[in-house]
Amino acid sequence: MEIVGRVLDNWKDIWCSKSAGYVGTGDGSMTDLLGLDGFDSGIGHISPENWSEYVRQTCETIRLAADDEFLEVGCGSGAFMHALVPTPEKQVGIDYSANQIKIAKEFKLEQMMFLEVDAIDIHTLERKFDVVLVNSVIQYCPSTEYFLEFFGKVVAVLRDGGRGCVLDINDIEKKDEFTRRRYIEHGGKKKYLENYKGLKHAFYSRDQILETLKHLGLGSVRIEDQFIRNCGTSEFRFNVFFEK
Ligand SMILES: C[S@@+](CC[C@H](N)C(=O)[O-])C[C@H]1O[C@@H](n2cnc3c(N)ncnc32)[C@H](O)[C@@H]1O
Repeated sequence: MEIVGRVLDNWKDIWCSKSAGYVGTGDGSMTDLLGLDGFDSGIGHISPENWSEYVRQTCETIRLAADDEFLEVGCGSGAFMHALVPTPEKQVGIDYSANQIKIAKEFKLEQMMFLEVDAIDIHTLERKFDVVLVNSVIQYCPSTEYFLEFFGKVVAVLRDGGRGCVLDINDIEKKDEFTRRRYIEHGGKKKYLENYKGLKHAFYSRDQILETLKHLGLGSVRIEDQFIRNCGTSEFRFNVFFEK
């Protein structure tokens, strides 16, 4: 399911293309869903077992309960939602890729609803949630303005007393080493720059995230190092948890 040797115009096209070429087993297995969500190759590969462990730990940290109304922003094919423990009775996943949402709908469980919505348009859902989760998405924000708006919208759909987390954030302190590893993975800088022409991963500082959430009026904010077993990107990323 990897896209090789193609110059893609922007991240949205990439996410649409990735799922358009869906050639998994067709049964919606976790291996397929992880592939569709971009965790199937190179240093970013995550096995279904390690994914389960990561999601389970996250659920514990956010104190997920079965009666929480749950929203995932940038849900892709739904890999995170399928691994939630306990299983929330009401789950909504939004993503700007029509193809990801199409596949997510194909394999959805009864309590899941998937909608094609850009994070920036999250207010069109016209509802609030107890828990909002964003995993491995903000590296695709095209600008600082977009990222600030994105965070504001995520916080706005949280109920008072609700819990939120934004996970898998590229750490700007580790950008040089991360970039060096990516070049190696892609067969050198030249090849990497060809494949990723016009595409940038956004990096953030922990202070920037803390400051942003403070401006949004959140009192309880906690930043942690990311840990996903045997996943090479994990050491370059961090997670933020907050309460409203
Ligand atoms: C690396 S995948 C992660 C998918 C899912 N969160 C998971 O953990 O399995 C990134 C997803 O974010 C989505 N995405 C990126 N920017 C978005 C935005 N502004 N609004 C909605 N979805 C977005 C992409 O379409 C893609 O499905």
